[in-house]
Amino acid sequence: MTYRVAIVGATGLVGRTLLEILHERHFPVAALDLYASARSAGTTLAWKDHALPVQELTPSAANRHYDIAFFSAGAAIGRNYAPLFAEQGTIVIDNSSAWRADPSVPLVVPEVNGARAFTHKGIIANPNCSTIQLAVALAPIERLFGIERVVVATYQSVSGAGNRGLEQLRAELEGREPAVRIAPHPIAHNAVFHAIAADGWSEEERKVMTELCRILERPDIAVVATCVRLPFFRSHAEAVWVECRQCVDMEFLLAAYKQSPGVVLMEEDYPTPRRVAGSDAVWIGRVRRDPSNPRAVALWVVADNIRKGAATNAVQIAELLHAGASPTQSATFAGTAS
Ligand SMILES: NC(=O)c1ccc[n+]([C@@H]2O[C@H](COP(=O)([O-])OP(=O)(O)OC[C@H]3O[C@@H](n4cnc5c(N)ncnc54)[C@H](OP(=O)(O)O)[C@@H]3O)[C@@H](O)[C@H]2O)c1
Repeated sequence: MTYRVAIVGATGLVGRTLLEILHERHFPVAALDLYASARSAGTTLAWKDHALPVQELTPSAANRHYDIAFFSAGAAIGRNYAPLFAEQGTIVIDNSSAWRADPSVPLVVPEVNGARAFTHKGIIANPNCSTIQLAVALAPIERLFGIERVVVATYQSVSGAGNRGLEQLRAELEGREPAVRIAPHPIAHNAVFHAIAADGWSEEERKVMTELCRILERPDIAVVATCVRLPFFRSHAEAVWVECRQCVDMEFLLAAYKQSPGVVLMEEDYPTPRRVAGSDAVWIGRVRRDPSNPRAVALWVVADNIRKGAATNAVQIAELLHAGASPTQSATFAGTAS
C-alpha cells in the first residue's frame, strides 16, 4: 500500500525534516504535496530527485483527498484546517498543540502508547517535543516501579521555537539586530524562559505537565516542570527526578533501558545536545539513585527536538498505521492510494 501525502508547514524546521525522514525511512509515498503560507507559494523544496512546488494552504487543499497529512504550521492552522482534511477522510498527524488536550484525539508516542493511534477519528496529535523524550524515558520506570512524582528542568535549544529561534540566536552571535525574536531578552550567552502567563507558569511547562500524564495514562502523577531556553541550536536536554511507589532497583532499570526501543543508554559518558543532534533516539545518561530516597531516581535525557521531538515521531505514527492497516482498515484511508 502506498499513500498520498501532504505536508502542511513544509518550509518550516519540522516540515523540512519531515521531508528528509519520509525519504530516509522509505515511507511508501505515492504522491507528495507541500503547503505553507502565501509567503512561500511558488518556491520549491527538494525531495529525492524532485523539486516539489510549495503551494499556499487554502481550504480547497482538503478536497484533494490525501491519505495522510502531516501538519506542522502552528496551532491556529491545526485547529482550523485539520478538521477540514479529516472530514475528507485524510488522517491528520498534527505537530501543533491544537488537539493535544482533546480527549477524543489520541496523543501518541509510538514507543509508549502506540496502540492509541488506532483509536483516532481522523486526527492524531503529536506531543510537545519536551514531552516526547520525557515520556520515552519515563515509560520503563512507570512499568517497573509505578511513578508518583516527576520534577523536570528542561534545557531547550532555540530550534524549539522554529526558524525564528534560529534567527534570533544567529543574529545575536553575529552582532546584528535579529529580524524576529522569540524572547524579549537576549538569548546568546543567556538563559531565558518561554513567555510566562499570569498564573506564573509558561505554556511549555503546562504542556509538559499535562501531556506526560495523558501519554502515560496516569492523570494522578504529580509533575512539576521548569522549562528553560538556552543558546544552542539543536536538541533538548532534561534533568529529571522521579519518585516511585516502589523502591527503584537500578539493575532492573538499566536492563530495561538497554532493551527499550528508541532508547540509547550511555553509561560511560553522558549525552549532550550536540552529540545527539541528528539522531532519532532518546538518549539517557547519568542514571542515579537518590541517596536520600530509595524510591527515587535522577536521570539526564537528551533528544533531537526536530527529529524525535516532532518529525520522526510523526512519521513513526504513520508507520504504525501502515503496519496495522489490514485490507479492511485501509478502507479508512480515503482517496487514491495505489
Ligand atoms: N521546532 C520544534 O522543535 C517543534 C517540536 C514539536 C512541535 N513543533 C510544532 O511544529 C509546528 C512547526 O514548528 P517549526 O519549528 O517547524 O516552525 P517554523 O520553522 O516557524 O515553520 C512554520 C511553518 O508553518 C508555516 N505557516 C505559517 N503560517 C502559515 C499559514 N498561514 N498557512 C500555511 N502555513 C503556514 C510556515 O510557512 P512559511 O515558511 O510560508 O511562513 C512554515 O512552513 C509548530 O506548531 C510547533 O509548535 C515544533
